[in-house]
Amino acid sequence: MSRFAGKTVLITGATGGFGSIAAKMFAAEGASLVLSDHPSRDVAGFAASLGTPAEGIPGDVGDPALHEALVACAVEKFGGLDVAVNNAGIVHARARLEDVSPEDALRVVNIDLMGVWYAMRAQIPAMDTRKGGRGGAIVNVASLAGIAGAPQLGVYAAAKHGVVGLTKTAAAENARRGIRCNAICPAYARTPMVEFDIDNVVAEKGMEREAAAAWIARGVPMRRLGEPEEVAQAIVWAAAPDNGFMTGQTIAIDGGVMSV
Ligand SMILES: NC(=O)c1ccc[n+]([C@@H]2O[C@H](COP(=O)([O-])OP(=O)(O)OC[C@H]3O[C@@H](n4cnc5c(N)ncnc54)[C@H](O)[C@@H]3O)[C@@H](O)[C@H]2O)c1
Repeated sequence: MSRFAGKTVLITGATGGFGSIAAKMFAAEGASLVLSDHPSRDVAGFAASLGTPAEGIPGDVGDPALHEALVACAVEKFGGLDVAVNNAGIVHARARLEDVSPEDALRVVNIDLMGVWYAMRAQIPAMDTRKGGRGGAIVNVASLAGIAGAPQLGVYAAAKHGVVGLTKTAAAENARRGIRCNAICPAYARTPMVEFDIDNVVAEKGMEREAAAAWIARGVPMRRLGEPEEVAQAIVWAAAPDNGFMTGQTIAIDGGVMSV
């Protein structure tokens, strides 16, 4: 399929677990890409490796100027912006919410919530059909922690609930402006973010890695972690032009957690 031929797709956190796989899936379907990641990552090198027209722009998603630059790149290099995947995110050190440090809390809110708002603020006018845009789709990568509480990750959960609020509001405000907006809400999937959790369980409980992964997945009806590909395909599906009537949704990719 070439559902994204002639379309420009912007992805933040593009060298990470979900971001890098989604970038390859969009590229395989003909998209031109504007990819971004933290300056500590080689996003330009990653963009160059994809064999599709792609720009790699480093920056911190907590900086509003980054998002203006990414949208300007989509317009100047590829003629417009059609899809934005706001995917970059971090967690804070696990702690009961009264024990999260204010510095850690502010960092998570700035990257996970403000970073998505800064992104959407730049992306929406560029897609808005009433302002000369081509219409499009925004996919925010929230979390299961965006639709339910997350013990030991309380401020992360608050930030991701905020992302869901931004998503639903943007969907309603832009439904007649040609822009769909949905949130993907994964449970634990095996990306570098979760490999770090597995490391912690191995260190704390003295388990083997696979036993530690199973321990993390013990509350998941499927009794396993998600695969990053299973989340990335949902990102692509949410963005796809043939999914044109779906907007304002929070889609759990969770092995059944929200069904019980
Ligand atoms: N892996 C999971 O189980 C899981 C579950 C629920 C939600 N999520 C969410 O999915 C998204 C992607 O996570 P992942 O699992 O692929 O993790 P990851 O750590 O592999 O990827 C995160 C990416 O975000 C980038 N990033 C972090 N801080 C940044 C900053 N300040 N500026 C720019 N880029 C920054 C990282 O460099 C990395 O490329 C995140 O928003 C995360 O909260 C992940």
